[in-house]
Amino acid sequence: MKKNIVIANWKMNPQSAQEARRLFDTITKGIRRVKKTDVVICPPFVHLPDVKSVRHTQKVFLGSQDIFWEEKGAYTGEISSRMLQSFGVTHVIIGHSERRRWLGETDEMINNKIKTALKAGLVPILCVGEWVREIPGEIPDIVENQVRSALKGLKKGDFKNGIIAYEPVWAIGTGRPETPDNAAKAALFIRKIVRDILGKKTAEHIRVIYGGSVNAENAASFISKDIRGMEGILVGGASLRADDFIKIVKSV
Ligand code: 13P
Repeated sequence: MKKNIVIANWKMNPQSAQEARRLFDTITKGIRRVKKTDVVICPPFVHLPDVKSVRHTQKVFLGSQDIFWEEKGAYTGEISSRMLQSFGVTHVIIGHSERRRWLGETDEMINNKIKTALKAGLVPILCVGEWVREIPGEIPDIVENQVRSALKGLKKGDFKNGIIAYEPVWAIGTGRPETPDNAAKAALFIRKIVRDILGKKTAEHIRVIYGGSVNAENAASFISKDIRGMEGILVGGASLRADDFIKIVKSV
């Protein structure tokens, strides 16, 4: 049986190493005894060594918010898979909408990053989602296109430990989350596409999760037993408040 997963995306926060350590310290203390849920925390690159030193439980995985597709060389400002792994990183967010928007990440770059992460043995957390809400409950073509292009060229089985986060952009940071039912519909839809590209086994094995204005009050509703196919959440803003994040993990 797959465990549910809760992933914290700290984005470009907090501003000091001291704050990062404090936040990580409090969170990992608070969820030490949680057994049934996997937890991944993705701080900014520069905080990775700091947070690693205050990890209270090895059960909390470390993730990064990006990766570069080449393994080494003259790529100013970029970070390789080996560098990440040397700081204990096991998971990597790829294709977040904020990188697509502000850094001009294309589907092709995202596809290359997925391949690099898989080759290194890192778990990719692929983010997909439409920019604007069209017809509630209907999943726009862009989601299918994003999934197909991100997984292009992979062989059956390659992505079986992968995670796909459905993050409708209009729900990110707005306080207006998608409804659990519609998010679950998107999860089923995404799984169908994965099945089509990579086969049934991979489609059953991957975890599909939801992100966008998740908080301590609504987190559990996205993965309650009545909601099929949704196996976790990706949390932005609320993951910066230790108490809220601990509550989210416990509620899941
Ligand atoms: P919020 O939880 O702040 O809406 O952010 C979601 C997100 O972008 C996580 O990757």
